[in-house]
Amino acid sequence: MTGQSIKTIGVLTSGGDCAGLNAAIRAVVSHAIQHYDWKVLGIHDSTHGLLRRPVDYEELTMGLITGNILRLGGTILGTTSRGNPFNYPMPDGSRRNRTDEVIEGYKMLGLDGLIAIGGDGSFEILCRLTDQGGIPFIGIPKTIDNDVPMTEFSIGFTTALNTAVEALDRLQPTAASHDRVMVLEVMGRDAGHIALNAGIAGGADVILIPEIPFRMEPIANKILALREAGRAHALVICSEAARPVDGEAVRQRVGEGGTRYGGVGQVLAGEITKATGAETRVTVLGHIQRGGVPSAQDRIIASAFGVHAVDLLASGATGRMVAWQRRQVVDVPMSEVVARTRPIDISETLVQTARSLDICLGD
Ligand code: F6P
Repeated sequence: MTGQSIKTIGVLTSGGDCAGLNAAIRAVVSHAIQHYDWKVLGIHDSTHGLLRRPVDYEELTMGLITGNILRLGGTILGTTSRGNPFNYPMPDGSRRNRTDEVIEGYKMLGLDGLIAIGGDGSFEILCRLTDQGGIPFIGIPKTIDNDVPMTEFSIGFTTALNTAVEALDRLQPTAASHDRVMVLEVMGRDAGHIALNAGIAGGADVILIPEIPFRMEPIANKILALREAGRAHALVICSEAARPVDGEAVRQRVGEGGTRYGGVGQVLAGEITKATGAETRVTVLGHIQRGGVPSAQDRIIASAFGVHAVDLLASGATGRMVAWQRRQVVDVPMSEVVARTRPIDISETLVQTARSLDICLGD
């Protein structure tokens, strides 16, 4: 299907929300309508909208472009990180493959292609699903974790990063006033991009990331050395999945048998007090990193991604993800994205920068 034969496309957001999703939706709508004269249908709550009957969607028109949408956090379409249609949890506790119903929902809307703004987990599901249904499909990467392969930036990362830096900016004066060690726990799942970048930008003394398992000794030594040099306060930033060399990441129990990362900051603070006698306080930044007004950079890449995704569908492409590489928007095959992740490469520049600045990385 090429630009001339496409009449209607669908757009959805999938997985955890972040700032900049609405800027991407706006770009898709604006370019698809103004340049190609397509109709754009926004599907609600990821694939859940296609499962509901009647199908749950709204037509996205140019009326959307005049308002506040570029500045809005969250997603006007709603999203979910639950309910994989290949293994859908039914009310009676059983699991069912409901992909045929999702594909049926897509066909009921008369769509000629689908753009999904999601992360690697969503793309894995959507690739299988769109292959099964013969659906032209383009992905736009988003996640505050910035761990989608093949792209230097995913939508949402720099907003989360700026929030973490602001938190360090606010923690530093109170740490200095009270001679305390402030521990800031940030998100990022198994990748330390938020902690590493924010730690450098926010002047942290210790940065702990999942890619470099830590020991308490160098952390305590760093804090004691600062005290020795005349500074009795310190800033520590840790990724939620940071873990000791001889242990596991700290997890919290959720729901029935489930767990999620969280709590490492509190554990670290206790260990720091034990090893150094320092008074510690812990801040867990949590979902503050996901909401809020998108940064300029998130709005810029979201806009560029949305436009390129529409052009790709118009050219007849499918199974591709738009990506940011060397100050350009490019596109890459989904096969190089799904079932992979992009943790910090410990030989990369910023790890070296941190070491050269004498920031303790816990190793
Ligand atoms: O993947 C984005 C992310 O914010 C992670 O950094 C975090 O671990 C997780 O999602 C939180 O998920 P939830 O919104 O389900 O608590």
